[in-house]
Amino acid sequence: MRDVQAAALWVVMVAGMAQLSVEHSLNYRLRPLIENINQQADSYIGLIIESSNHEKPLLNSGLYVPNEGTPNITISGRTFHIGQLNGVDVIYVKTGGGVISTASSAQLLADFFNIKGFVHYGTVGSVNDTLFIGDVVIPSQAAYISNLQWKKYNSKGTLKFGDYNLPTAGENSLGAVTFDPTKVFITHSGVIENVFWFPINSTWADTANNLQGVKLEQCISSEKCLPSEPEIVSGLRAASSDIYVQNAALREFINTQFKVSVVDKSTAMILWVAATVDIPVVVFKGVSNTAGGSTAYSSYNSLGSINAFNAAANFIASIGNPVAASKVMK
Ligand SMILES: *[C@@H]1O[C@H](CO)[C@@H](O)[C@H](O)[C@H]1NC(C)=O
Ligand SMILES: *[C@@H]1O[C@H](CO)[C@@H](O)[C@H](O)[C@H]1NC(C)=O
Ligand SMILES: *[C@@H]1O[C@H](CO)[C@@H](O)[C@H](O)[C@H]1NC(C)=O
Repeated sequence: MRDVQAAALWVVMVAGMAQLSVEHSLNYRLRPLIENINQQADSYIGLIIESSNHEKPLLNSGLYVPNEGTPNITISGRTFHIGQLNGVDVIYVKTGGGVISTASSAQLLADFFNIKGFVHYGTVGSVNDTLFIGDVVIPSQAAYISNLQWKKYNSKGTLKFGDYNLPTAGENSLGAVTFDPTKVFITHSGVIENVFWFPINSTWADTANNLQGVKLEQCISSEKCLPSEPEIVSGLRAASSDIYVQNAALREFINTQFKVSVVDKSTAMILWVAATVDIPVVVFKGVSNTAGGSTAYSSYNSLGSINAFNAAANFIASIGNPVAASKVMK
């Protein structure tokens, strides 16, 4: 009787393990399909998007053509879309936003596919009053500003909460925070570096900063137009965190403390993964809000992602296929 029970238990355990091993090898079983995708192009540009809102300008542009055989593949719950944008081979992924999902989506993209570099487009909040809704920022550097040390009451720190007491500055039991750099694991050398400012690749930045003929939308309908034409602004700093900033005091602190012009939840993480896997990266961010500043023209926020997409699509044509690019420009 005992033996029968033991045998039955054993059968149940083995069945359970078999099921586990199937689940664990899901990504592994996709490898032949992934291999096939990688063989269909010399390399792909890895396009990283946060949300369906940002995917819309891509789908509406008519510039994206899905791969006929395998238009998409889902790895670890993230769907990777294979196709061509402006005649250039791309794989795009929607991260869903947030720092963890952004970094892991970028890492999956680089680990499974033959990616020659990342292009990221989307929206940002502006913390610099010279920027307008609809402008496109190509950051030269980005910092991750959520790696904090929360200090004891009465300790020194970079952001002291008492400075923001009302009606007058004083002491605050929340104390202060300091901002630490992020550890980066460099694949080819195994070295671990502490980095606060992540740079954009300079070669790609040169191309991005000299794009010709990018169409920047100024109007959301035939009557409703911004007072001036949006611009592409390069050489500014971005700060990324898991915080959606809508607070004027924090906005001003980020701008003055870090000399940062735009804030988001994605740019620094993509630069972080690009540094790890050692591939070039460039970022196009349309201003869609003011992170707690002026609310003027806030209803024009959709221009941010449209204009960022237009700049990214123009860049991909320029970098990926100069012949196709010259056709697109005409
Ligand atoms: C992936 O492609 C298939 C066609 O092969 C399509 O039916 C499906 O909707 C696509 N999935 C996503 C998430 O786009
Ligand atoms: C704000 O943006 C302008 C360009 O629009 C730039 O010249 C200036 O340096 C930026 N300020 C900061 C603090 O980054
Ligand atoms: C930028 O990317 C190009 C193209 O991949 C590469 O040749 C160059 O070394 C990179 N530059 C830096 C500073 O990483």
